[in-house]
Amino acid sequence: MLQLSLLAAALLLLPMLARDPSAESARSQNKLFSPTQAPPNARYVGSKTCANCHEQQAAGHNANAMTLALELPPEYGVLRQYPSLSLKRGKYRYTVERKGNESIYSVTDGQQTISVPVAWAFGASKMGQTFVLRHQGQFYESRVSFYQSIKGLDLTMGVPAGTEPRTIEEALGRVMQSVDTKDCFGCHATAAVSEAKLQLDKMTPGITCEACHGPGADHVALAKTGKLKTAADRQIFNPDSLSAYDLSQQYCGACHRSWEQVSLMGLRGIGNVRFQPYRITYSPCYDPEDRRISCTACHNPHQPLSHDVASYDAKCLACHQTTGAVTNAASTKAKACKTGKANCASCHMPRYEIPGSHFEFTDHMIRVVKPGESYPN
Ligand code: HEC
Ligand code: HEC
Ligand code: HEC
Ligand code: HEC
Ligand code: HEC
Ligand code: HEC
Ligand code: HEC
Repeated sequence: MLQLSLLAAALLLLPMLARDPSAESARSQNKLFSPTQAPPNARYVGSKTCANCHEQQAAGHNANAMTLALELPPEYGVLRQYPSLSLKRGKYRYTVERKGNESIYSVTDGQQTISVPVAWAFGASKMGQTFVLRHQGQFYESRVSFYQSIKGLDLTMGVPAGTEPRTIEEALGRVMQSVDTKDCFGCHATAAVSEAKLQLDKMTPGITCEACHGPGADHVALAKTGKLKTAADRQIFNPDSLSAYDLSQQYCGACHRSWEQVSLMGLRGIGNVRFQPYRITYSPCYDPEDRRISCTACHNPHQPLSHDVASYDAKCLACHQTTGAVTNAASTKAKACKTGKANCASCHMPRYEIPGSHFEFTDHMIRVVKPGESYPN
């Protein structure tokens, strides 16, 4: 959604997950598995099949926004709920209107008009939704997006306010280069990209079980023989085998963006608050080898995101003392807080609104927030 050059980031995504030698042994098939790329000749079965045997993971996963990271026209939740949206910006007027099984995105300056069906809606709309359109053989990222908090359209994040498009095509949106399309679909869908090629015919929208665990046909076949419980190689990728560093930076970071990727993009300032793997490395709490501060310590991807701030306290207290002298030599735990005993994240993980996002992101640079400080890093 941010209009950055993602090329550099894309180049870094490939050599993933092969770094932990202990994980390599039994998993030759999964060695180069990356959550944004389908391995060559991959055979997928779909989340419904996984759910037959892994009910527990499947039940909660459906309520995590990752499952709905991309929608196709017949499913459009937001565009059905808001069947008639409009916005006037400068001389251009935008509308997104529901017609039968489609939503039509139109832009007009009064003389010229372009109307195209919304081909894909990106985002579960916690913050909003951006549309990808097809016009004259090209992909466009819509110039306006839907935002949940205003329940309406505004300029897509990253489009500089106050600029007036020179042509009706420019007003429609941004022409996406092939690397942009691969990046977008690679992060918001399953099996959309393989061997660096976009394969929309094989794609499943959203982050399904197999986006994170790899293609599952061989695993399911093995499970049906009943030998899975004792098998040395279960023919499925279990991220639990990754080191704490690889889990946060290379695996979740493949989509949420690692320290490496964000540094390479040179993205300083408030716009980088949405890149949690990057932000967390600047916290004094962060230890690349400690599982207690990795992404899965606080977030279970098989569950909906918890918005109950107190539910994170136990995660902090896995490392921090609750009471006592601040330097308790007998304890191996980190310091206690003199100010608060509960709801730790409400003070130490402040929220910031990226301009134009209409959404407050949670800063993962856990710290003592100094009064009047400017946004660090
Ligand atoms: C026919 C039943 C069945 C189906 C369908 C199935 N699994 Fe499994 N899966 C199992 C069994 C049995 C185990 C071993 C569980 C155990 O020992 O607790 C397992 C283990 C796993 C593990 C852990 C592997 C390890 O090495 O630790 C993962 C991850 C997994 N399954 C994911 C999936 C995904 C993703 C799908 C859909 C593509 C899926 N499973 C479909 C039966 C199934
Ligand atoms: C294949 C790409 C991909 C991978 C890998 C990935 N994510 Fe995500 N994640 C996304 C996208 C895209 C969204 C935004 C979904 C939306 O709102 O449309 C998201 C959203 C989330 C959310 C917010 C969910 C909500 O309901 O608001 C959490 C939490 C999260 N991811 C955690 C993780 C963790 C932890 C990992 C690693 C175990 C991980 N993600 C790996 C792509 C990915
Ligand atoms: C490197 C992976 C990656 C790429 C590339 C990417 N996204 Fe995302 N996107 C994410 C993740 C992770 C989130 C959730 C965290 C956040 O909001 O930043 C997200 C969030 C979003 C959201 C907000 C979802 C919500 O629930 O509010 C929209 C809309 C979106 N992306 C659209 C796009 C579009 C359009 C493109 C291509 C122009 C794109 N993204 C490219 C990973 C990616
Ligand atoms: C965003 C990535 C992501 C998605 C999507 C995802 N998983 Fe997982 N899964 C993980 C991670 C990470 C682990 C490692 C355990 C942990 O640290 O939570 C895991 C572990 C597992 C395990 C092993 C559990 C154990 O106790 O060892 C099973 C089985 C599993 N997942 C099944 C599924 C199924 C079925 C789905 C779809 C309904 C699914 N997963 C979707 C990331 C994901
Ligand atoms: C120590 C706990 C902790 C760790 C570790 C952690 N998070 Fe979070 N995360 C939170 C809290 C607290 C929230 C805010 C939840 C709420 O109230 O909505 C959050 C929110 C999010 C969101 C929703 C968007 C937002 O800005 O609110 C995403 C996506 C996310 N985290 C991804 C990650 C990823 C990826 C990692 C690994 C780098 C990670 N988190 C590590 C505590 C943690
Ligand atoms: C992996 C263990 C670990 C976890 C989990 C952890 N911390 Fe820390 N934290 C540390 C260490 C180590 C330090 C640095 C030494 C110290 O202050 O005792 C630290 C430092 C801090 C500081 C002082 C930072 C500064 O700016 O000087 C604060 C505040 C803090 N942590 C809050 C939290 C909160 C809130 C959570 C949960 C959301 C949390 N920590 C989770 C280990 C952890
Ligand atoms: C009401 C806001 C608030 C809450 C809630 C809160 N803190 Fe703090 N915390 C502060 C402030 C302000 C400071 C800096 C002044 C001080 O040391 O008391 C601080 C300091 C700290 C420090 C640094 C201590 C030192 O001596 O350097 C740590 C570690 C910490 N908090 C962890 C936590 C943990 C863990 C929790 C939850 C159990 C928590 N905080 C809850 C506001 C809060």
